[in-house]
Amino acid sequence: MSSIGAYLRNLPHAGIVLSLVSAALLGCRGDYHDCPAIPPARRAALPRRLSETGLFVAKDKLAPDVRPYNPAFALWSDGAEKRRWIALPPGGVIDTRDMNEWIFPEGTRLWKEFRRDGVRVETRLLQKIGPREEDWAAVAYVWNAEDDDAEASWEGGTNVRGTPHDVPAGDQCFGCHGGRRSRVLGFSAVQLARTASDGTVDLPSLAREGRVSNPAPESLTIPGDTVERAALGYLHANCSHCHNQARPEADGPRCYDPDNGMDLRLLLGDLGSVASTAAFRTTVHLESRRDQMRKRMGSREYDVQMPPLGTERVDAAGLAAVDAWLRRY
Ligand code: HEC
Ligand code: HEC
Repeated sequence: MSSIGAYLRNLPHAGIVLSLVSAALLGCRGDYHDCPAIPPARRAALPRRLSETGLFVAKDKLAPDVRPYNPAFALWSDGAEKRRWIALPPGGVIDTRDMNEWIFPEGTRLWKEFRRDGVRVETRLLQKIGPREEDWAAVAYVWNAEDDDAEASWEGGTNVRGTPHDVPAGDQCFGCHGGRRSRVLGFSAVQLARTASDGTVDLPSLAREGRVSNPAPESLTIPGDTVERAALGYLHANCSHCHNQARPEADGPRCYDPDNGMDLRLLLGDLGSVASTAAFRTTVHLESRRDQMRKRMGSREYDVQMPPLGTERVDAAGLAAVDAWLRRY
């Protein structure tokens, strides 16, 4: 849209033409479930097999530069069990000047492994393949029947390895990961704020090892009582990558852009009180939004359900946590 827009502004009667063309283009953005296809060059940037991505050096033995971490608030994925790892390039430093949107160095890799009903189904990879903020490639690797390697699946899959688990297609990854400037959603100041006692990566270890350009504030706590913190954390982890007011500009199809005024992020500048959080300001104190949240979180109907992808089962515990908070207003 931007380049066409710039061209049109230089023509006579540009205003009228521009608005007609914008209307047509908005129409073209179409159904919110459509995402742009992943270009071949981006596909080629990732290896075909998980064993070639540098996660393991032998069966289930982590490479020396790969570090486990656990976000404080997890994405519900129909109850799948997950493990997560990060590898920063040698000497690589995360640009944390904007504490809400960490910008990772080229060569960064993050993996997330999924088990469903005890079966290892997929391992997802996000890799920074260039210097620009948007230079990320992402794909899921589906494990083979021998459970000794996994293969990149750009098309995704349904009911993999005899489980009810579905694997998202490569273009869907950015339906969620493309919604935040960082592109990385669970390795952040808010998500790593609690001190890890098990040797996994946390904010103090990142600062100690010189991996962040600016250290995070020492006391970083989510406001509110137990009920409020649980709901705010849940909405941040499960909804804010789409529902925020700082979504990176994107041409082409809508790709899960909600296009409304909701913002469910926990932002570092907003943690003084519950009433100053984006979730409170843009949704929770509004009755119609509270009703919609309950209805959509409690649905798994196409066109209604929230989140609109990556899940086929309602998260009863998550819904109860959010509902317990909503009922206070
Ligand atoms: C429904 C939204 C959604 C979709 C679709 C999705 N992700 Fe994620 N992903 C998240 C969220 C939220 C997190 C952080 C929370 C967590 O790890 O539980 C995350 C975490 C990750 C991580 C760990 C690094 C990080 O960003 O925190 C990787 C790697 C990853 N996803 C890869 C993928 C790939 C590859 C795909 C597509 C095959 C994909 N994801 C599809 C929402 C999504
Ligand atoms: C993958 C992106 C994505 C995620 C994740 C997501 N949403 Fe949405 N949400 C959308 C889109 C797109 C729409 C617009 C749907 C439409 O036009 O019907 C929407 C619409 C909504 C609406 C209706 C807003 C209104 O004013 O009518 C609510 C409420 C909502 N989402 C709540 C949530 C909650 C709560 C979560 C987390 C549990 C969540 N969403 C997660 C993309 C997302």
